[in-house]
Amino acid sequence: MDEAFELGNRVRKDFPILNRLVKGKPFVYLDSAATTQKPIQVIEAIKNYYETFNANVHRGIYSIAEEATAAYENAREKVARLINARSPREIVFTRNTTEAINLVMYSWGQNNVREGDMLLATEMEHHSNLLPWHILSKSKRANLKLIGFDKEGFLRLDELEKYKNEDVKLFAFTFASNVLGTINPVRELVKYAKEMGAVTVVDAAQAVPHMPVDVQQLDCDFMAFSGHKMLGPMGIGVLYGKERLLEEMEPFMVGGEMVKTVGFESSEWNDVPWKFEAGTPNVEGAIGLAAAIDYLQHIGMDVIRRHEIKLTEYALDVLVRIGEITYYGPSSPEQRCGLISFNLKGIHPHDLAMFLDNEGIAIRAGHHCAMLLHSKLGTVASARISFYIYNIPSEVDLLVKSLEKIKRMLGI
Ligand SMILES: Cc1ncc(COP(=O)(O)O)c(C=O)c1O
Repeated sequence: MDEAFELGNRVRKDFPILNRLVKGKPFVYLDSAATTQKPIQVIEAIKNYYETFNANVHRGIYSIAEEATAAYENAREKVARLINARSPREIVFTRNTTEAINLVMYSWGQNNVREGDMLLATEMEHHSNLLPWHILSKSKRANLKLIGFDKEGFLRLDELEKYKNEDVKLFAFTFASNVLGTINPVRELVKYAKEMGAVTVVDAAQAVPHMPVDVQQLDCDFMAFSGHKMLGPMGIGVLYGKERLLEEMEPFMVGGEMVKTVGFESSEWNDVPWKFEAGTPNVEGAIGLAAAIDYLQHIGMDVIRRHEIKLTEYALDVLVRIGEITYYGPSSPEQRCGLISFNLKGIHPHDLAMFLDNEGIAIRAGHHCAMLLHSKLGTVASARISFYIYNIPSEVDLLVKSLEKIKRMLGI
């Protein structure tokens, strides 16, 4: 069988949580778009940090403080290499994707957007990449416009054309939709933005963990993603920003470690990226993320992508055969990331998720922090399954069996 399809079986032994039972049944985890499970290598890296060199960073003169600082900065270099940033100075550690996008909104947006400017986002955004732009457009009296999507879940590029001659300051869009699964043509969208003179903010929360991503090739200005969605711990996220832009920006938060000199009334900020990392950072998070990146790169991001395409293809195929299922987003697995949102006729997604929990299967149900998108789909909620490296086709089979059972029980 294809190497990519075999990946799940090969790596499962590294994920202790997958051995547990839920409601007396083997645990099937199909919610990796919310957060991924952690391999023993990441858990051990964090344990090793606390057991052998726990210290605050960038300030201690003693050995373990230097070791902790080196490990923290080494994590930054790993992130830079993962996304092919020009330099680790372009990598700012944040808490998560949400904080990274808010940082751009406050530090770049509040200082560069003026009354009457236009801001663009899309109707398929997670709230994290929509609400900051609501705040910015309100506080600056700027015009926020949203690009729609078509029946198959693709962005309406024709709508973008309309804004070509407008004074667009910023274009924020998701790399991959956490509901539709659509992978957007990022390079093309960045080109559009450049023609309009807009700065680009790419929400890559559902992309960087799942496929090769090269920020130099994409040429975006900012990109955000979360460590916990790529085998790393919670509380560590990344903002990539072009160095020139980061240099020009004011800090988001002020306090310890982000200044060079402090006078009575003013101070000189530290260099990038430390200017944006006020206070004690999440050292264990960065170390865990570095271990996660090692783990992912050992497999290969292209292998991970192929594995998810295969699983998605298989799942779409067997799900539609159940009948009475509506799924959202593109029909081609090549054009989607490894998640499928759907509704089964006659049952609310919350009830469906509760039923599946009784079968040991964890899925997401609700609006997935994308209310606007759901209202555009004409529904308030959906059920969502999402895959990662450890998922295997037999888990999809178990899901299908359970869905058939619920259909029988409810007479659907
Ligand atoms: C597309 C997308 N953007 C942003 C986020 C927010 O990520 P976090 O909660 O880690 O900030 C998510 C999380 O589900 C997401 O899927």
